[in-house]
Amino acid sequence: MTTFVFPTAATQIEKPVANQRATHALAVDEGVASAVRAGLSSEPKRLPPWLFYDAAGSRLFDEITDRPEYYLTRTERGILRAHADAMVARAADGARLRITELGAGSADKTRLLLKAAVARQGTVVYEPVDVSASALDAARERIEREIDGVAVAPRVMDYTHGNGRGLELTPTETGERRLVLYIGSSIGNFDPPEAMRLLHRVRAGLRPGDGLLLGVDLVKDEATLLAAYDDVAGVTAHFNLNMLARLNRELEAEFNLENFEHRAVWNRAESRVEMHLESRIAQKVQIAAVDLEVSFAESETIHTENSYKYRAGQAEAMLAEAGFAAAGSWTDERGWFVVCLGRAE
Ligand code: AVJ
Repeated sequence: MTTFVFPTAATQIEKPVANQRATHALAVDEGVASAVRAGLSSEPKRLPPWLFYDAAGSRLFDEITDRPEYYLTRTERGILRAHADAMVARAADGARLRITELGAGSADKTRLLLKAAVARQGTVVYEPVDVSASALDAARERIEREIDGVAVAPRVMDYTHGNGRGLELTPTETGERRLVLYIGSSIGNFDPPEAMRLLHRVRAGLRPGDGLLLGVDLVKDEATLLAAYDDVAGVTAHFNLNMLARLNRELEAEFNLENFEHRAVWNRAESRVEMHLESRIAQKVQIAAVDLEVSFAESETIHTENSYKYRAGQAEAMLAEAGFAAAGSWTDERGWFVVCLGRAE
């Protein structure tokens, strides 16, 4: 770091100006700042899981999906590989499909469904929906390069917040059906009431006959669940701790990562795996850009994520409650993950 030494008189004049410029140069994201202010002044402390996904965090998540313990991606991919044709046929029900995906990150799993649609109808319109324009650009580039017959129509939108309104999608053409993909167990980050609100919101943006393909992780033995969120290589620990590193980068926070430890906990009563960052010592941490000092007791945690796990039949029941008729349900041989199709009624 460079230190400028001013003559005594100038120091007092220059210093506030220099501070101001430093703060502005940081270009603090208001969404990040307010989430951090709210989450770290609340009791217990929490930070929202969307904060994981800066560039470094998105790379770490990709790495997690390759860890042997993280069975979710591999299992869902296996289900899609075996049944993509059946899923697409069932969803199309004789009509042409347009495929809309909530989130732009599921790469090779989406590709299986797009290929099935192209095989069936020659071409397909694919509409990934994401808050991140750069994630959408990457998805478009990848899909257009890898699969002929797919026209990518990205849509920048935060589908998780609706203020009671339905998902606003471009109208389908007559004779065309929309299939919305919400795969990857992303719904697991929401508690059951929030998940229901999201499903209702998706339903409100669809017409009768349109479909929703939902990928959901299921309850299984605790050791398997915990290992998936605490891999031996430490990638998940790194992913969790990256949230603090991000606050250091973006908010001039002074978290010493060595003073925090990754924790994964199975909360049986709530049927969720929780991730926490546990303070190894009693400490105070400054976060300059939001003008906050945060005190931690020894062993106090920041709750960073919930990953809800459902029981067989629950995902189908949630779809039914949101106005979708059961149109198919596919699982793996161990019954670890389910992909189900609901048809808007
Ligand atoms: C992307 C929300 C499905 O909960 O399994 C992976 C995120 N967190 N390892 C999940 C995650 C820790 C993941 N989802």
